[in-house]
Amino acid sequence: HEEFTKVKNINRIEMGKFDVQTWYFSPFPAEFAPCEKLYFCEFCLNFMKRKEQQQRHMRKCELRHPPGDEIYRSGNVAFFEVDGKKEKIYCQNLCYLAKLFLDHKTLYYDVDLFLFYILCECDERGYHVVGYFSKEKNSEEGYNLACILTFPQYQRKGFGKILIAFSYELSKKEHKVGTPERPLSDLGLLSYRSYWTRVLLNIIKKRRGNISIKDLSEMTAIKTDDIISTLQHLNLIQYQKGQHVIYANPKIIEQQLKEVGSGAPIDASKLIWTPYN
Ligand code: COA
Ligand code: NA
Repeated sequence: HEEFTKVKNINRIEMGKFDVQTWYFSPFPAEFAPCEKLYFCEFCLNFMKRKEQQQRHMRKCELRHPPGDEIYRSGNVAFFEVDGKKEKIYCQNLCYLAKLFLDHKTLYYDVDLFLFYILCECDERGYHVVGYFSKEKNSEEGYNLACILTFPQYQRKGFGKILIAFSYELSKKEHKVGTPERPLSDLGLLSYRSYWTRVLLNIIKKRRGNISIKDLSEMTAIKTDDIISTLQHLNLIQYQKGQHVIYANPKIIEQQLKEVGSGAPIDASKLIWTPYN
């Protein structure tokens, strides 16, 4: 894709109360880019070239949440499921917007084939988009996530963990194991490592290591390859006589769990959802 090598064409965006510096090129329609700053409606994600247009729009736009079903709510955190086929414009807008912060991924602008899971923080003014992930409706490769993004103004507050945990809760409901689409960005890999480590070590700690990779995979919906690579990275696994054996070194486990934290970011009992076909 030639778009990867292109120089940044939008420098800043305004969205809700935030003014954000962008990171990468995004293929906005020719009338909008190049441009110093684009103004977004934080609810419908329409974008405009001038502040006055945005202000006029905000007085008229009646949307206060993403155009889909609220499938999770816990405290002031909510998830909406938006179908790319039903809400084409919204999802295309989201992809344009997301590409400003995604470098290497092929973004699929053919949004029909995807569901979008939008993470919001709610207050009296409405549901504010914090981040999202996309997911193919039918992934032959067993991907449970295509693109993931926390908007820069919300990064490093634990929302990435919430997005990742949520993607696995969906997989559990589907009775499938899943894995994120590759390649992962550096930040993506860090976040996944931290999630996998926390989930796996919490189980291994309780079982004192007496558990197979297969059992772990069934309990967590994490693909066996990802379990093995995580445990290898932590030096907690050895390959012996054609088999992987977990070594539950209590010191390593305690130290790692201290680093990644042990709290669960998603309350699975609050997910109201039936799988897409
Ligand atoms: N530096 C170092 N570690 C980082 C980091 C950073 N800037 N950002 C995230 N991490 C790691 C940390 O281990 C963190 O755990 P910690 O808070 O216990 O240290 C873990 O990732 C998760 O952090 P969290 O706050 O839950 O993630 P986030 O909301 O910042 O979102 C991404 C993580 C990957 C979604 C976000 O960085 C992002 O949107 N990046 C741009 C798009 C992208 O690269 N997407 C992935 C494509 S595969
Ligand atoms: Na993708």
